[in-house]
Amino acid sequence: IPEVSIGSSDKKIPKVGFGTAEFPFAESAEVITESIVYAIKLGYRHFDTAAVYNSEKFLGDAIKEALRLGFINSREQLFITSKLWCRDAHPDCVISALKKTLANLKLEYLDLYLIHLPISLIADRQNFPFEKEEIVGMDIRVVWEAMEECQRLGLTKSIGVSNFSCKKLQTLLNTATIPPAVNQVEMSPLWQQKKLVDFCKEKGIHITAYSPLGAKGTPWGTNQVLENQVLKEIAEAKGKTVAQICLRWVYEQGGSLLIKSFNKERIKQNLHIFEWELSPEELEQISQLPQHKAFNASDFIHENGPFKSLEEFWDGEI
Ligand code: A2P
Repeated sequence: IPEVSIGSSDKKIPKVGFGTAEFPFAESAEVITESIVYAIKLGYRHFDTAAVYNSEKFLGDAIKEALRLGFINSREQLFITSKLWCRDAHPDCVISALKKTLANLKLEYLDLYLIHLPISLIADRQNFPFEKEEIVGMDIRVVWEAMEECQRLGLTKSIGVSNFSCKKLQTLLNTATIPPAVNQVEMSPLWQQKKLVDFCKEKGIHITAYSPLGAKGTPWGTNQVLENQVLKEIAEAKGKTVAQICLRWVYEQGGSLLIKSFNKERIKQNLHIFEWELSPEELEQISQLPQHKAFNASDFIHENGPFKSLEEFWDGEI
């Protein structure tokens, strides 16, 4: 799997990574750990989790098992990302949240630690679910200072954010000492994010794409991506699946991507996107597709909260 540099870290990020989020969490521990061990065997090296996914422990178990089986020789061969949940998006909670994440993963350090969403929830309650009244604005300057401290302490190699608009990235850049290495955002042929891609390129922020297939199967997800007629025609003409067309398209945008599957055939299929490419005509057709965002963060919109509409949450980039 090709890799690219991010931020100032000497560790490169693999351009295709394995997602571990599932809502609702339906699979057994065995299926999840087995899927991850199998993915390591096949050559996946980047694994993405988050405090709120409840998958950190399974990922930690799978890493141990892959080491035991000799699929990798050392933890250094892996690139592990996790995320700070909104409950802990308060300056004095960040370091202990990361330490808890590391304990779940049974690791000494992360490769990348991200602020999960640009919002906080009242601290010291169960991670999920939450009441709308618990949503509070994030003091990004001080939360980011705590993220920077995590990197200085060696608890993570790099730091970044997730679900940040251009405007929120700029606010962060205005006060950051260590600029965010990564912004992890939704990206698929139906949510192409051209403005954000250009902004991040200009600022040297790497984009990692999540939900490249439209998050099918989640409460907010859509089957519009996998069922899209144009994508189906391109897939048929090339002898590929629609999923592979989506992954290849995101791959060609230059950042990295995450794809979650707990199905062995699909875990394998999703790696076969390197030995072929989309033609200029196919890229042109895809660029014309009507846009539709799957994850819109509507749970974080509240008339008395910091964001009163989706437009406010995404700064109009929706
Ligand atoms: P499964 O675990 O059963 O494979 P996204 O990354 O956009 O959030 O989409 C993930 C969803 O897409 C998962 O539910 C996953 O289900 C499914 N999926 C992953 N790979 C493929 C594929 N190659 N073809 C069809 N569906 C896929």
